[in-house]
Amino acid sequence: MSQPILIFDSGVGGLSVLGPIRERLPRAPIVYVADTGGFPYGTKTEMEVATRVCALLGRLTERYRPRLIVIACNTASTIALAHVRAALEVPVVGTVPAIKPAAETSTARAIGVLGTEATVRQPYVNRLAADFAADCLVLRHGSAKLVEMAEAELRGRPQALSDYAAVLAGLLDQPGGERIDTVVLACTHFPLVRDRLAAASPRPLTFVDGAEGIGRRTAHLLAGAEWDGEATGRAVLTSRNGEIDALRPALARFGLTELDYL
Ligand code: DGL
Repeated sequence: MSQPILIFDSGVGGLSVLGPIRERLPRAPIVYVADTGGFPYGTKTEMEVATRVCALLGRLTERYRPRLIVIACNTASTIALAHVRAALEVPVVGTVPAIKPAAETSTARAIGVLGTEATVRQPYVNRLAADFAADCLVLRHGSAKLVEMAEAELRGRPQALSDYAAVLAGLLDQPGGERIDTVVLACTHFPLVRDRLAAASPRPLTFVDGAEGIGRRTAHLLAGAEWDGEATGRAVLTSRNGEIDALRPALARFGLTELDYL
């Protein structure tokens, strides 16, 4: 079998990145890892996230021998991408908040960044804002609740629009928030509930995320790769907790028909 692409997240969020990768590389075998045993990352310290992600990706690389790793998680990437790249020989694509495309989109020059608490406090985000959105107001809001809501939706439990509105209010009700016209979905869980956020929004907003860019980057790095056999999709979980049976239909919708535990 060909060496797979390994896509890594704390939970279901990386599925929003899997779509654009599959579109461009339909024959590539995929190993999708959800660190269900370490979920959620957004409320952990930098040290906890970095230690866990480096150790896990080391073990996963030994086991699955991936051709390329995609860290489909803004929290893990903004904290640990450099450490992971230093530790592994495999090429690693990271996911960082899509502040650059948001700055290219915003006519009001006011951007909201919606991520996890851990992501929105990263110096990496300050640098992106300074480099690409220096002439924009950039407001941030971290929401662990929205991560939980996306996990619940993927398990077939629709969440109330009023709860989505409350999350958006955390951003839009900040001083200057009334100017925001573009919101960066800076957590890979959030594009999975984009329609719900849009439906709950008090006014039309443009939501931007990095998934297409990651799909393009991955396809570029793997240009010319040969894939033998059928494209396979395997989900790997790091714990048996977390209503796994309720998750199976969503995993299958993304082509992940096999299930393993690390
Ligand atoms: N999906 C992850 C991200 O992109 C984080 C979710 C979590 O574990 O808190 O940041």
